[in-house]
Amino acid sequence: MQSLLILNGPNLNLLGTRQPEVYGAGTLEKLERDCIAHAQTQGFEAECVQSNHEGTMLDAIHAARGKHSGIVVNAGAYTHTSIALMDAILSVEIPTVEVHLSNIHARESFRHQSYIARAAIGQICGFGRQGYLMAIDALAVRLSQSGDVT
Ligand code: DQA
Repeated sequence: MQSLLILNGPNLNLLGTRQPEVYGAGTLEKLERDCIAHAQTQGFEAECVQSNHEGTMLDAIHAARGKHSGIVVNAGAYTHTSIALMDAILSVEIPTVEVHLSNIHARESFRHQSYIARAAIGQICGFGRQGYLMAIDALAVRLSQSGDVT
Protein backbone atom coordinates (compact mmCIF):
# COMPACT_ATOMS: atom_id res chain seq x y z
CA MET A 1 0.00 0.00 0.00
CA GLN A 2 1.33 3.47 -0.85
CA SER A 3 1.94 5.78 2.04
CA LEU A 4 1.61 9.50 2.66
CA LEU A 5 3.49 11.70 5.12
CA ILE A 6 1.32 14.26 6.91
CA LEU A 7 3.81 16.79 8.26
CA ASN A 8 2.82 19.59 10.63
CA GLY A 9 5.21 22.28 11.77
CA PRO A 10 5.61 24.67 14.67
CA ASN A 11 2.77 25.48 17.04
CA LEU A 12 0.36 23.11 15.33
CA ASN A 13 0.65 20.82 18.37
CA LEU A 14 -1.35 23.55 20.12
CA LEU A 15 -4.39 23.17 17.86
CA GLY A 16 -7.55 23.29 19.92
CA THR A 17 -6.25 25.95 22.28
CA ARG A 18 -4.24 28.16 19.90
CA GLN A 19 -6.31 31.06 18.52
CA PRO A 20 -9.37 28.84 17.91
CA GLU A 21 -11.07 31.72 16.08
CA VAL A 22 -8.32 31.41 13.43
CA TYR A 23 -7.34 27.74 13.53
CA GLY A 24 -10.46 26.01 14.85
CA ALA A 25 -11.32 24.17 18.03
CA GLY A 26 -10.19 20.66 17.13
CA THR A 27 -6.94 19.13 18.35
CA LEU A 28 -3.97 17.94 16.33
CA GLU A 29 -4.66 14.38 17.48
CA LYS A 30 -8.16 14.53 15.99
CA LEU A 31 -6.82 16.07 12.78
CA GLU A 32 -4.24 13.30 12.46
CA ARG A 33 -6.85 10.60 13.11
CA ASP A 34 -9.09 12.14 10.43
CA CYS A 35 -6.19 12.28 7.95
CA ILE A 36 -5.32 8.62 8.56
CA ALA A 37 -8.96 7.57 8.14
CA HIS A 38 -9.41 9.66 4.99
CA ALA A 39 -6.14 8.40 3.49
CA GLN A 40 -7.39 4.85 4.01
CA THR A 41 -10.53 5.59 2.01
CA GLN A 42 -8.22 6.63 -0.83
CA GLY A 43 -6.10 3.49 -0.50
CA PHE A 44 -3.17 5.02 1.38
CA GLU A 45 -1.48 4.51 4.69
CA ALA A 46 -0.56 7.77 6.42
CA GLU A 47 2.20 8.61 8.85
CA CYS A 48 1.71 11.80 10.85
CA VAL A 49 4.64 13.83 12.15
CA GLN A 50 4.55 17.14 14.00
CA SER A 51 7.60 19.07 15.06
CA ASN A 52 8.40 22.51 16.36
CA HIS A 53 11.94 22.17 15.02
CA GLU A 54 12.95 22.98 11.46
CA GLY A 55 15.76 20.37 11.48
CA THR A 56 13.40 17.61 12.59
CA MET A 57 11.03 18.56 9.77
CA LEU A 58 13.95 18.41 7.32
CA ASP A 59 14.86 14.95 8.63
CA ALA A 60 11.26 13.78 8.21
CA ILE A 61 11.22 14.97 4.59
CA HIS A 62 14.57 13.31 3.87
CA ALA A 63 13.36 10.06 5.47
CA ALA A 64 10.25 10.13 3.27
CA ARG A 65 12.27 9.19 0.21
CA GLY A 66 11.56 5.58 -0.70
CA LYS A 67 8.96 5.37 2.07
CA HIS A 68 6.18 7.80 1.18
CA SER A 69 4.64 8.52 -2.20
CA GLY A 70 3.29 11.93 -1.28
CA ILE A 71 3.58 14.60 1.37
CA VAL A 72 0.96 16.91 2.88
CA VAL A 73 2.74 19.70 4.71
CA ASN A 74 1.61 22.56 6.88
CA ALA A 75 4.93 24.15 7.75
CA GLY A 76 3.33 26.78 10.00
CA ALA A 77 5.43 29.93 10.22
CA TYR A 78 8.40 28.16 8.56
CA THR A 79 6.33 28.44 5.39
CA HIS A 80 7.29 32.08 5.23
CA THR A 81 10.95 31.77 6.17
CA SER A 82 12.43 28.39 5.36
CA ILE A 83 14.46 28.06 2.20
CA ALA A 84 15.80 24.85 3.78
CA LEU A 85 12.35 23.20 3.81
CA MET A 86 11.77 24.28 0.21
CA ASP A 87 15.13 22.77 -0.78
CA ALA A 88 14.35 19.54 1.08
CA ILE A 89 11.05 19.09 -0.78
CA LEU A 90 12.77 19.82 -4.09
CA SER A 91 15.54 17.36 -3.19
CA VAL A 92 13.39 14.34 -2.41
CA GLU A 93 11.19 14.85 -5.48
CA ILE A 94 8.06 13.58 -3.73
CA PRO A 95 4.78 15.22 -4.81
CA THR A 96 3.91 17.62 -2.02
CA VAL A 97 0.75 19.57 -1.29
CA GLU A 98 1.02 22.64 0.93
CA VAL A 99 -1.85 23.17 3.36
CA HIS A 100 -2.82 25.98 5.70
CA LEU A 101 -5.84 26.06 7.95
CA SER A 102 -6.26 29.79 7.49
CA ASN A 103 -6.28 31.79 4.26
CA ILE A 104 -2.72 33.10 4.45
CA HIS A 105 -3.36 35.48 1.55
CA ALA A 106 -6.11 37.28 3.45
CA ARG A 107 -3.89 37.82 6.51
CA GLU A 108 -0.79 39.89 7.28
CA SER A 109 1.45 40.57 4.30
CA PHE A 110 4.34 38.57 5.83
CA ARG A 111 2.16 35.47 5.49
CA HIS A 112 1.59 36.00 1.77
CA GLN A 113 5.00 34.66 0.80
CA SER A 114 5.46 30.89 0.85
CA TYR A 115 8.78 29.23 0.11
CA ILE A 116 6.97 25.88 0.28
CA ALA A 117 4.77 26.92 -2.66
CA ARG A 118 7.84 26.99 -4.91
CA ALA A 119 8.40 23.28 -4.28
CA ALA A 120 4.81 22.05 -3.91
CA ILE A 121 2.50 20.85 -6.68
CA GLY A 122 -0.15 23.11 -5.18
CA GLN A 123 -1.41 24.99 -2.17
CA ILE A 124 -4.70 24.66 -0.29
CA CYS A 125 -5.49 27.30 2.30
CA GLY A 126 -8.49 28.77 4.03
CA PHE A 127 -10.60 25.63 4.34
CA GLY A 128 -9.58 24.66 7.86
CA ARG A 129 -9.15 20.95 8.54
CA GLN A 130 -10.99 20.08 5.36
CA GLY A 131 -7.92 21.34 3.51
CA TYR A 132 -5.89 18.36 4.68
CA LEU A 133 -8.49 15.96 3.30
CA MET A 134 -8.56 17.91 0.04
CA ALA A 135 -4.77 17.63 -0.12
CA ILE A 136 -4.97 13.85 0.32
CA ASP A 137 -7.53 13.71 -2.50
CA ALA A 138 -5.26 15.84 -4.70
CA LEU A 139 -2.33 13.50 -4.07
CA ALA A 140 -4.51 10.46 -4.79
CA VAL A 141 -5.35 11.92 -8.19
CA ARG A 142 -1.75 12.96 -8.91
CA LEU A 143 -0.30 9.60 -7.90
CA SER A 144 -2.83 7.65 -9.93
CA GLN A 145 -1.80 9.73 -12.95
CA SER A 146 1.96 9.29 -12.43
CA GLY A 147 1.79 5.56 -11.86
CA ASP A 148 4.12 5.96 -8.86
CA VAL A 149 4.05 2.78 -6.79
CA THR A 150 6.60 3.76 -4.13
C1 DQA B 1 -0.69 28.39 9.24
C2 DQA B 1 -0.49 29.82 8.76
C3 DQA B 1 0.88 30.34 9.17
O1 DQA B 1 1.04 31.68 8.74
C4 DQA B 1 1.01 30.30 10.68
O2 DQA B 1 2.31 30.73 11.05
C5 DQA B 1 0.71 28.97 11.24
C6 DQA B 1 -0.45 28.25 10.74
C7 DQA B 1 -2.12 27.88 8.94
O3 DQA B 1 -2.30 26.66 9.00
O4 DQA B 1 -3.01 28.66 8.69
O5 DQA B 1 1.37 28.50 12.17
O6 DQA B 1 0.23 27.56 8.55
